[in-house]
Amino acid sequence: MNARPESSVGIDAAAFAGPRGCLDLADLAAARGIDPAKFLQGLGQRRMAIASPCEDTVSLAVAAADRALSAFDIDPGDIGTLIVGTETGVDHSKPVAVYVHELLGLSERCRTFETKHACYGAMAGLTASMDWIASGRARGRKALVIASDIARYGLGTPGEPTQGAGAVALVIDRRPRLLTIDPSRIGDFTRQVMDFWRPLYSKVAFADGHYSIRCYLDALTAARADAVGPGAELLDDLAACLYHVPFVKMAKKAHQRHLEIERGAPLDLERDADRHLLAEDHGRRVAPWLELNAEIGNIYTGSLFLALIDLLRQAADRFAGRSISLFSYGSGCGATFCLGEVAEAASDWSSALDPADDLARRRMLDITDYERFVRDGESADTAESLDPAAYGLGEGLFYVGTVDHQRRYVRG
Ligand SMILES: CC(C)(COP(=O)(O)OP(=O)(O)OC[C@H]1O[C@@H](n2cnc3c(N)ncnc32)[C@H](O)[C@@H]1OP(=O)(O)O)[C@@H](O)C(=O)NCCC(=O)NCCS
Repeated sequence: MNARPESSVGIDAAAFAGPRGCLDLADLAAARGIDPAKFLQGLGQRRMAIASPCEDTVSLAVAAADRALSAFDIDPGDIGTLIVGTETGVDHSKPVAVYVHELLGLSERCRTFETKHACYGAMAGLTASMDWIASGRARGRKALVIASDIARYGLGTPGEPTQGAGAVALVIDRRPRLLTIDPSRIGDFTRQVMDFWRPLYSKVAFADGHYSIRCYLDALTAARADAVGPGAELLDDLAACLYHVPFVKMAKKAHQRHLEIERGAPLDLERDADRHLLAEDHGRRVAPWLELNAEIGNIYTGSLFLALIDLLRQAADRFAGRSISLFSYGSGCGATFCLGEVAEAASDWSSALDPADDLARRRMLDITDYERFVRDGESADTAESLDPAAYGLGEGLFYVGTVDHQRRYVRG
């Protein structure tokens, strides 16, 4: 007998895929003449995944989706909606999603599109997919939502240590095997702000970093109030709180705001009691699920869902039937706060979800290689021929150049 009600909707399958290279932030700090403690403790990051020019938004999305479909035994023919949330598009017109559709061999009876709103695009895709299923239009089919991005800031800028790359694929369905999302408690927020943007003429993002932190926190307050009401007390019922993670320390700032909302007054971190409260609550509800984010760095649209994968690989058994909160923020800005319930048998999938083996096989880049990848990446969109072997890549699907203005992908 299955206890999950037919009306429940949420995340039925998930997987992460990232590039093969990564950079240790202690090496970056040494190269930039910065105290490594600023990156390691100040930002909470250890390493960041670095994409080579042959690993783009499309190839990362396909790798994550391939993994989710096969690990959870889902027939690609059952996918009726494919949405790729990304802020690293490869074309002004043609969506990443349609390349992914072909490379995954999905049915032509499928609605396919790309969503863009900085780091918020995948959450927009997730809630749109839930609406598609609830409306009856899905007719038994599932939605595949992929968050795929390469976070790139200029060399030597404050944002440089908050880069990363990777994709998270989610399958949205009724009676989900991982996480049910409560459609009656989803709160949204939108406001036009210039906290982070990437104009058409620039490969790297521009950010007013400290302002973006304030925008993020204000969006959390507003989206949470929209979901559950401004005075609602939630934390006692939540096993975990997951946030958008541009860098690991940001989730601590977010959780501090969450605690302040609950008690209706700011925390004074000069006071022992308040400092202890934040350390204890953050250490229990937030910090344990940020291991993957600390190793992989910022993956923009996917960073919230990377924290979810981390939670499910470590604690799905303990948290079966328990509620968690999820907060997605995209600069510019748009945000959603919602509540989910971990499925009773989610722990059956903990090892299928766990990307630890892949992370252990990553290649550590030195600063020279990292800067070469960045430099070559600047001209990759117009390069006619790129050789994956030149970037240490072996098996996999890779972008190999643009001929007649058409991007080419090869599975090696
Ligand atoms: C996040 C960002 C603004 C930080 O920029 P910065 O001005 O270089 O860094 P800061 O001086 O604020 O230092 C960052 C943290 O490290 C701490 N720190 C600095 N030097 C340190 C050292 N030697 N040892 C330990 N910690 C240190 C700071 O106190 C700060 O922590 P706090 O925020 O808890 O006070 C920058 O990385 C950025 O612009 N990122 C991109 C935008 C972004 O991620 N926005 C987030 C919302 S989406």
